[in-house]
Amino acid sequence: MSRSPRVARTVSALRREIDSLRARKATVALVPTMGALHEGHISLVRRARRRADKVVVSIFVNPTQFAPTEDFGSYPRTWKEDIAKLTAERVDLIWHPDGKVMYPAGFASRIVPEGAALAGLEDRFRPHFFSGVATVVAKLFTQCRPDVAIFGEKDYQQLRVVTQMAGDLDLGVRVIGSPTVRERDGLAMSSRNVYLNAGERRVAPTLHRALKNLATRLRAGEDMQASIDAGAATITEAGFALDYLVVRHAETLAPIAADESGPRRILVAARIGTTRLIDNIAA
Ligand code: PAJ
Repeated sequence: MSRSPRVARTVSALRREIDSLRARKATVALVPTMGALHEGHISLVRRARRRADKVVVSIFVNPTQFAPTEDFGSYPRTWKEDIAKLTAERVDLIWHPDGKVMYPAGFASRIVPEGAALAGLEDRFRPHFFSGVATVVAKLFTQCRPDVAIFGEKDYQQLRVVTQMAGDLDLGVRVIGSPTVRERDGLAMSSRNVYLNAGERRVAPTLHRALKNLATRLRAGEDMQASIDAGAATITEAGFALDYLVVRHAETLAPIAADESGPRRILVAARIGTTRLIDNIAA
């Protein structure tokens, strides 16, 4: 049995731990998370291990990226299980600040990203989300000073926003995207999948099936709008309320016309019962 990773809970303790990790010029990879770890998160940890000498995982359920109507209070918190999983991966350090360490009384600064953060996707349904994410990720980067940071393609718009921010602000961190890990039936793993009841869980893989069908039709040169409409119908007929199903430029997330060249990404968000799911694939 390996030893549990060290845990830093204050900025000064974190600084000391990072300085000691960096001794003898070791490189550091950071994997930011909100805990409730599943195989998707663990795949990022393994990628981090391949990219750097030392691996730091942050666990912080960030209040500023949740709207008052969202699930901050009920977001799954599974500290013991998380530690066991990170111990098995031989993670070097866990950064686990509480709300007061991250946002001390009087905290008054915020990063408001533009570009991909205003693509009209998640930002349209969660207007405060990317400013909350960008601010906390910028803080995580300056606190941990990693060489690389690993983010999942599962949250594709977030990956684009964070990549852009790291470059724009010269944060000195290379952001690396990592493929989505799925359940056997195609459902993208998510900490929020625990909210699905048995019936909802059964239809949830429809999202991934619709994405795959749409990608196949686009690659075959079929009409873009007709293919999107067919995908949207499949999703709503399965019982989802669809927020968006779109084809965008994979880097800028700008709308892309059927005859335009460039890498494409299909992105979807839909609600089933009280749970909102997002997913995406290359097209
Ligand atoms: P969280 O939802 O915990 O996700 C942490 C990281 O795991 C993100 O980079 C996310 O894209 C990745 N991830 C989640 N599910 C995945 C899956 N099925 N396959 C691959 N990667 C997956 O995203 C956040 O936390 C927060 O917004 C955060 C970046 C930590 C800022 O608070």
